[in-house]
Amino acid sequence: MKIVTIVGARPQFIKAAPVSRELRKQHTEVLVHTGQHYDENMSAVFFRELEIPEPDCNLGIGSGSHGQQTGAMLGGIEAVLIAEQPDWVLVYGDTNSTLAGALAAAKLHIKVAHVEAGLRSFNRRMPEEVNRVLTDHVSDMLFCPTQTAVKNLAREGLTQGVHLVGDVMHEALLWAAERARTQSVILDRLVLMKKGFLLATVHRAENTDDPVRLRAIVEALVSLDDPIVFPIHPRTRKALDRLEFPTLPSRVKVIEPVGYLDMVHLEQSARTIMTDSGGIQKEAYWLGVPCVTLRDETEWVETVESGWNVLVGADTERIVGAAKENPKKAYNARPLPADPAVPLIITALDGY
Ligand code: UD1
Ligand code: UDP
Repeated sequence: MKIVTIVGARPQFIKAAPVSRELRKQHTEVLVHTGQHYDENMSAVFFRELEIPEPDCNLGIGSGSHGQQTGAMLGGIEAVLIAEQPDWVLVYGDTNSTLAGALAAAKLHIKVAHVEAGLRSFNRRMPEEVNRVLTDHVSDMLFCPTQTAVKNLAREGLTQGVHLVGDVMHEALLWAAERARTQSVILDRLVLMKKGFLLATVHRAENTDDPVRLRAIVEALVSLDDPIVFPIHPRTRKALDRLEFPTLPSRVKVIEPVGYLDMVHLEQSARTIMTDSGGIQKEAYWLGVPCVTLRDETEWVETVESGWNVLVGADTERIVGAAKENPKKAYNARPLPADPAVPLIITALDGY
């Protein structure tokens, strides 16, 4: 089988790593990087640390408006697919790279497999929600991480080619967690004690592009007493500059985005995580670290139902209250669920 895998953004490198590793044992993979993320610490570091082979092709699309970026990707991916004539195109998650890959393939009548299918926030103002819905509806194979995702697809009439496989990010995390413990020196570098700090990330358009929401989140970080590590997404760095917020106290350590091993080590060492990231909500859950989600809704409803994740929106008081809470049960390590996602995905593609 020949598979063209499309990646472009940070979480996609992480998701593709464990699948790629297994896929290449039996099949031919052509890895296409759209270039959506391009800074060294948003892209190359993940290829290096996760031992992902160099992309066969980097389209170098870069940043732009949704239409410009997705349109440029569509043309670039189409040319690669015409040249490669793969059996499958494999796409991950919900970014503009995901949609461009799925759409380019569908129009060429090449089969599309979507990993992380069926996730829904039911908020169509999120660019990711539009990408997810459209990608799912042109996909031939839909790999769902949760039962909720399967149900979401059924509600939209999608039942053919749907497989509940579990979560490839869980496999990526298991691979990295032990390595992170022995290889990451980030706690020493930042002079942090295990469980003596909070970890924060923000990058969702709804938070970065709305000065009221962004200000409310930053005010919460300033109001808390603990050291906070804040690896800042370039989009958020730019938005904060526009906000002209007074200098943050030194207790809030604003650092450049970190590689995956450092991130996993920060996550497993943090007392609480505050984030609007999809992937980080799940990692917090698997690592048994309380999570305060800076959004009004989540696709990962299981993490909230389990009591490990709380949705607080961009409300300063609610963020501070939730971050200060000391949910004792959350400190008990949870057994990590053993999702066999990667072999299930490969077997399903093989047997189609
Ligand atoms: C994208 C995805 C989002 C995902 C996130 C993961 C879409 C619509 N959004 O959001 O679903 O959660 O990636 O991180 O696809 N920039 C840099 N250097 C880079 C990359 C980006 O400076 O290497 C800056 C540029 O100013 C750019 C902005 O960040 O305009 C936003 O980047 P973009 O890829 O459009 O969206 P993300 O916010 O990263
Ligand atoms: N991540 C990382 N370094 C960082 C921030 C995030 O390695 O500085 C990892 C994080 O552990 C998770 C993934 O990137 O695996 C999540 O990506 P992001 O939050 O950008 O996107 P989302 O999951 O919301 O789409």
